[in-house]
Amino acid sequence: MFDIKAKDMRGRVGVLKTNHGDVKTPALMPVIHPRKQAIDVKKYGADIVITNAYLIYKDDELKQKALDKGLHELINFSGPVMTDSGSFQLSVYGDIDISNKEVIEFQDLIGSDIGTSLDIPTAPFVDREKAENDLKITIERAKEAVKIKKENNIKMLLNSVVQGSTFPDLRQDCATQLASLDADLYPIGAVVPLMESYHYKDLVDVVMNSIMYLPDDVPRHLMGAGHPMVFALAVAMGCDLFDSAAYILYAEDDRLLSTRGTFKLENLQEMPCSCEVCSKYTPDDLRAMPKKQRRDLIAQHNLYVSFAELRLIRQAIYEGSLMELVEQRCRAHPALLDAVRQLANYNEDFEKYDPRSKKSAFFYTGSESLKRPEVLRHHQKLKEMSKKRDLIVLPPSRKPYSKFISGKLGEFHVFGSEQEIDLDNTDFMVLDVPFGLIPLEIDEVYPLSQNDSPKIKDVDSLEYLSNFLSDFIKNYEQILIHSKIIKELNIGLYNKSVNSDEIRYKKDDIKKIRAIADYQFGNGAGDALFKGNINVEKSKKTGKIRHVYDGKTLIVNMRASDSFLVLSKEGARRLHESCPYPKNRIVVNKDSEPFALDGKSVFSKFVVECDENIRARDEVLIVNEEDKLLAYGKSLLSACEINEFMSGQAIKTRKGMKK
Ligand code: GUN
Ligand code: ZN
Repeated sequence: MFDIKAKDMRGRVGVLKTNHGDVKTPALMPVIHPRKQAIDVKKYGADIVITNAYLIYKDDELKQKALDKGLHELINFSGPVMTDSGSFQLSVYGDIDISNKEVIEFQDLIGSDIGTSLDIPTAPFVDREKAENDLKITIERAKEAVKIKKENNIKMLLNSVVQGSTFPDLRQDCATQLASLDADLYPIGAVVPLMESYHYKDLVDVVMNSIMYLPDDVPRHLMGAGHPMVFALAVAMGCDLFDSAAYILYAEDDRLLSTRGTFKLENLQEMPCSCEVCSKYTPDDLRAMPKKQRRDLIAQHNLYVSFAELRLIRQAIYEGSLMELVEQRCRAHPALLDAVRQLANYNEDFEKYDPRSKKSAFFYTGSESLKRPEVLRHHQKLKEMSKKRDLIVLPPSRKPYSKFISGKLGEFHVFGSEQEIDLDNTDFMVLDVPFGLIPLEIDEVYPLSQNDSPKIKDVDSLEYLSNFLSDFIKNYEQILIHSKIIKELNIGLYNKSVNSDEIRYKKDDIKKIRAIADYQFGNGAGDALFKGNINVEKSKKTGKIRHVYDGKTLIVNMRASDSFLVLSKEGARRLHESCPYPKNRIVVNKDSEPFALDGKSVFSKFVVECDENIRARDEVLIVNEEDKLLAYGKSLLSACEINEFMSGQAIKTRKGMKK
């Protein structure tokens, strides 16, 4: 019902299948008023819309027409239509005269594609007792709706709305309980007041404490989010659907939406974009128009910018630049910048979802970038890495550093115990923003070369480098830090300085491929893979390593785009032999064994266990429950997704061991 095509952070490009066609997500559902809709939203890019079943139910004429001709004809939209249940009216007027059961059955009767139970939208910051009492009812009604759907064999898809006000544990509890219901979609409710009052930091807590406890293979809808300023942030947190009454409500009020915020028509000297409306009219033209005409034109602009933003977000997910977009967008308002800063508190969670390599480079856009999951991931790897006795720390050169560092390296200051320098027992690392220390052997691996930061460092970056360095050097006996770094970071208290001809970085292809293997597959993998008569073949054009053989037997290829190693059959065999179960492994059930042996791709539902460190784009071994090597390939998902998904491919198998 929901297939994921591309991922970045927790964001996904997906396809939601409905009875009235497929919807590409992230998607925006314009709110259609069943009586007074003036704008053809399809023209502006809407593939799915949302309307209010309660408003139809309450109006005898609309109700009769919906029952006779169906919802789609009533609102004149042939694509998928979602309906809301009247919960919003409940939250505004305090009471409505329809039961949960009635509203579910009514939505199905009029042919809604996706219906909603009668949840209680509890406002933010209420007292706990109210939030708990409301939540109890919301969950009971969600359960009842699922039961009605099963008993009456209803085909309509079902929304189960996460509530819990601003209490993280109530959101978690609600999401956990709803997750066990197997609903078709999970909206996150009662966030409109947070967005209207610019409580974006609290929005992050509410959304994350809901989404982290929802299944990954079901779409989530941020209810009532219609301002394009927040779309990128919400998508990065894992939201797939938005609905917007904002396009028309703001237009009623002479306000124009943009990703930079909202413009009041009365203040505009210039039209803010290049849509049809902004190209054709001036602010004075609009101000001179009759109210209704002006409203419709502003609403068209509002839809145009909202759909343009969603296209940009989907493109960013495809190329792996979603966080760059989020960081840009969140500079539109200090309250949004707070939201990005709050995201850092969930970095361990994001790291579990973020693909290992991306098509685009990592851009540092400000000190928030230092908290991104890619940085956390590298630091975890550095911690695990086996270390030599001494450390030499170099300032950055052009990237890849190892290609441009040669000859005499200059003056160093010595820390720790003083002893004769032994280059074979020394790690060479470059100190740079945003990754901290980068061992020279692995500097071509994504994203350690595929990143950029300004030459002029901000104080946060300098402090970060300083703290990172002083912590990391505790792993070594003797540390030589280049004088440029000493100066830049203003470091004192070294033992002496040295300026030796002997301190040179010697490139060594075998050391390099072993270090990359250790970084990629875990300590020891390098020695296990590259033994025997190792012979390294390089590209004539770029000089980069392409293939590694033992004699004539291929062991790995090095992927040109991200310098990760790609296993051959022999490589898979060696890795399997050397690393303990379940490391680097996907374990499949008995039924899929012959398919895997044959080189067929592995579907998530056949996976019984997997290494929790697997991320999208990782090289993996495919084994049976007795740890017999069946095949090897590339993971399309991360471990937590593989464990959860019941449909779709998990591993793109490269080869089965039978062939
Ligand atoms: N529209 C905006 N917020 C909500 C919510 O919390 N629940 C429902 N059902 N609809 C909404
Ligand atoms: Zn415009």
